[in-house]
Amino acid sequence: MNLTKKEIIALLSDKQNEQELFNRADDVRRKNVGDEVHLRGLIEFSNFCRNNCLYCGIRRDNKKVCRYRLSEEELIKTARQGAEMGFKTIVMQSGEDMYFSVERLCRIISAVKNFDVAVTLSIGERNYDEYKAFREAGADRYLMRIETTDKELYHRLDPQMSWQRRYECLLMIKELGYELGSGIMVGLPGQTLESIANDLLFLQNLEIDMAGIGPFIPHPDTPLAGENGGSLSLALRTMAVMRIMLPDINIPATTAMESLHPNGRIMALQAGANVIMPNITEEEYRSLYALYPGKAGADGTPANSRSRLAQKIINLGRTIGTGYGSRIKKSLVDK
Ligand code: 5AD
Repeated sequence: MNLTKKEIIALLSDKQNEQELFNRADDVRRKNVGDEVHLRGLIEFSNFCRNNCLYCGIRRDNKKVCRYRLSEEELIKTARQGAEMGFKTIVMQSGEDMYFSVERLCRIISAVKNFDVAVTLSIGERNYDEYKAFREAGADRYLMRIETTDKELYHRLDPQMSWQRRYECLLMIKELGYELGSGIMVGLPGQTLESIANDLLFLQNLEIDMAGIGPFIPHPDTPLAGENGGSLSLALRTMAVMRIMLPDINIPATTAMESLHPNGRIMALQAGANVIMPNITEEEYRSLYALYPGKAGADGTPANSRSRLAQKIINLGRTIGTGYGSRIKKSLVDK
């Protein structure tokens, strides 16, 4: 559904009636993507990063981080275990770590594709030929948040990076036939509701297939340590408005939401979300991938937390997705 910028801002600022907004988004979600919740097994395979984003705990200049990367074998083994647990999508995420060359990644992607899963990459900015090679090796989807469409804010928070370049990466990924996921953080220092409204219009315009919304959570070992973080409430409102604007996309209940409230992801599932991405990285590495403090999902074995989560989903009257959970476009029919 098309909303004007003014309408979006009105919804984002109306905390008092947010329950109505959540109910409306929940309704749109049910009618368009149904009751299935798709689970994606997330592997955080390297926390090395060449970038220095001010908000991020694994930024290059954070010398307190103990850096790790999974070996090719470990990564493939973790993906196989994920597939055996029943995940139909494996998401491979890392910092921008060039140790993972195109050849190495292509080998890994083809190996993981043997497990009958959809493969999602979330490894940041690469060039066209690399994106093309990953796609040819079997990668199905790509996640890369635009973070904010306020270019001034982006360049302040992501020094040495170019907003335009990131945007062009998203276009290349789309052109190569990946399912494209993006998203933003809300509550960044200096971000306004108007700016968030612009972000939502941008995501709608780009015709993304998935988008994640997360509250900004200040990390103590970053230059933004002393700033205020985003609220769960604003993150949920933003997500709910996005569901109304983009009725048939996949929307994850994000880990950052869960980090602000023990039930954050379940709340998100009742306000427009239809995807959860449990972390299946081996426990010894999990706490090292600290993008922000209190990052949820670091307790228990992956199998245990998966069944606990599944039970919560069933208690909501929802079901666990049994397919790959690709986006099924409805917009052509409903427009
Ligand atoms: N708070 C919340 N989200 C963060 N991310 C990175 N740092 C933080 C933080 N401090 C998000 C970014 C990135 C995703 C992987 O994690 O949006 O794209």
